[in-house]
Amino acid sequence: MPDSRPVGVFDSGVGGLTVLHECLVTMPHEDFVYLGDHARLPYGPRTRDEVRRFAHEIGLYLQGLGVKMVVVACNTATSVALPDLQGELEVPVVSVIVPEAHAAVQATRNRRIGLLATELTVASGRYESLVRTLDAGARLTSVACPKLVPLIEAGDTFSDDVMAAVREYAAPLKDAGCDTVILGCTHYPLLRPVFQRAFGRDVTLVFSADETAREVAETLARKGFENDGKREGEYRFLTTGDPELFRTLGERFLQLPLGDVEHVGVAELEEAA
Ligand code: DGL
Repeated sequence: MPDSRPVGVFDSGVGGLTVLHECLVTMPHEDFVYLGDHARLPYGPRTRDEVRRFAHEIGLYLQGLGVKMVVVACNTATSVALPDLQGELEVPVVSVIVPEAHAAVQATRNRRIGLLATELTVASGRYESLVRTLDAGARLTSVACPKLVPLIEAGDTFSDDVMAAVREYAAPLKDAGCDTVILGCTHYPLLRPVFQRAFGRDVTLVFSADETAREVAETLARKGFENDGKREGEYRFLTTGDPELFRTLGERFLQLPLGDVEHVGVAELEEAA
């Protein structure tokens, strides 16, 4: 029997759409519901407890919509909320950090890995512990990039401010001789060409979208949760912010038509918890 329940995906904003894009092309027969918590963005400068609470509320809200899996398409929420969220929800939770750490350890030749992420992701130390578990001899250099999410959410990916910020954040990783750099925030793949130019061709950039989509597909298959492979799936969007703004910016991130975006109040999320 095909499992017709949708897959729930969330992020603080539009960054998680880079993950949803890969999910939609990897599993065109599945339905998805995406929630962007724009009213409370950015998550990066917030406290651990705040982001844990937001993830808890959104996870329970999506579960209440009847999803068969929750995908945390936000590195910041993953880094501080994941073990708790997995304990709290009845449905499986897939997230973005483990696949990236794994891919980076596999890719590096000189065992010097760089991490670009939000303040809270860097402070959580999650990547360090994962990299150490996978290869105790690999060295991770982390750089917090507080300027990037607000710029990207404002629709800015090519201005002088973006170029200056990318140069500033890339410099310590170049100095450390990293041959592999994790773009550890789901917003950053939108700046991939800019980062690739800053680092040069010899540096491998790792990001979560395709690795995560593969993990979602494998988990659904192994659990027998797949929908009918011959159908074309549907997807829909919810935001705690302005639906019109989400729609305009969202299409650039999703690279697919977005359709309608519905508003969901923060109060509704709080009630779900
Ligand atoms: N896309 C989120 C992440 O992956 C951005 C966090 C933020 O809102 O600061 O970390």
